Amino acid sequence: MAYQIKPILWENGSLKIIDQTLLPSELKYLDIKTIEEAEDAIKSLRVRGAPAIGIFAGLALVAILKNMNLQNIMEAHRKMSEVSERLKKTRPTAVNLAWALDYIKKSAEQLKEDSVENFLLWIESTALEIYRKETEACRMIGIYGSSIINEGDGILTHCNAGALATCEYGTALAPIYLSKKEGKNVKVFVDETRPLFQGARLTAWELMQGDIQTVLICDNMAGVLMRERKINIVITGADRVARNGDTANKIGTYSLSILAKYHNIPFYVALPTSTFDLSVKDGSEIPIEYRNPEEVRKIGERYIAPKDVEVYNPAFDVTPGENITAFITEKGIIYPPFEENIVRTLKDR
Ligand code: MRU
Repeated sequence: MAYQIKPILWENGSLKIIDQTLLPSELKYLDIKTIEEAEDAIKSLRVRGAPAIGIFAGLALVAILKNMNLQNIMEAHRKMSEVSERLKKTRPTAVNLAWALDYIKKSAEQLKEDSVENFLLWIESTALEIYRKETEACRMIGIYGSSIINEGDGILTHCNAGALATCEYGTALAPIYLSKKEGKNVKVFVDETRPLFQGARLTAWELMQGDIQTVLICDNMAGVLMRERKINIVITGADRVARNGDTANKIGTYSLSILAKYHNIPFYVALPTSTFDLSVKDGSEIPIEYRNPEEVRKIGERYIAPKDVEVYNPAFDVTPGENITAFITEKGIIYPPFEENIVRTLKDR
């Protein structure tokens, strides 16, 4: 099943990822052993999507440290901090990256006198615990989220918040996969998601593997489909959600939220609780990644614009909480007032 696609594998202590830049033409796994390979994998979007980046970073940290021939526990802690700091710098918006690395570092703090061997075993089991918990969170998001989906719904999604962006099931796509399993017929409209086409290349591919009725649209077509009442729910993922519910997600999500509000269409954001960042008061404090202008000037290797045209290329935007109907999480669906309900839901995270 499509929701069981595993973009990240940990097999016999080695890390492999699907190179998502090659999809949908080629399904190929890559080995990741060094810090350079891990940095490149995140920056080039070979591995991508907020939960997947977090899971990957944890396992990459383990793989890299295992390949370092560490001499003693002091060196192990020092190298863990160095590698974590480098990995954190690769992409700034998705909080899951720093969250996973900090979680592992904190859990290893108690290991002061241990052998390097024990240290490595400990961080490996902590990274695998994150993998398992995030996968289970996505399964639960599917269960809670399928309750908002009805037979015959037209659902719009943006970017890729499916199995490829997590480690199975997905966030925004998990409720769709489960609805299908429950026998509901739904049609999913997939925004192509310029500039890097995560919708066209990844979501359309993933949904079709799952035998879900899929309609690919250009990013500028959503408004007319809403006016024609072909879309009656929007579900997206998230890269970081502030305490007040402001949500950073793939560029274009904000415009969709305004279109949905204008047309009175519910707008849901599906995410594991690891994507909330309570240290951030509102969306203005979320760091936004700006990417290479060539991504906009070119499609693949071909220029579609003058080579020297000025470009603006933010990878994410912030949707104000007031445009969001509810958050679908592994702990249930969170409705407004967001600040109060998010803080209460996350208390025992
Ligand atoms: O630049 P990307 O492809 O990493 O952006 C991914 C998104 O914006 C997703 O919607 C988000 O990370 C949620 S993934 C479950």
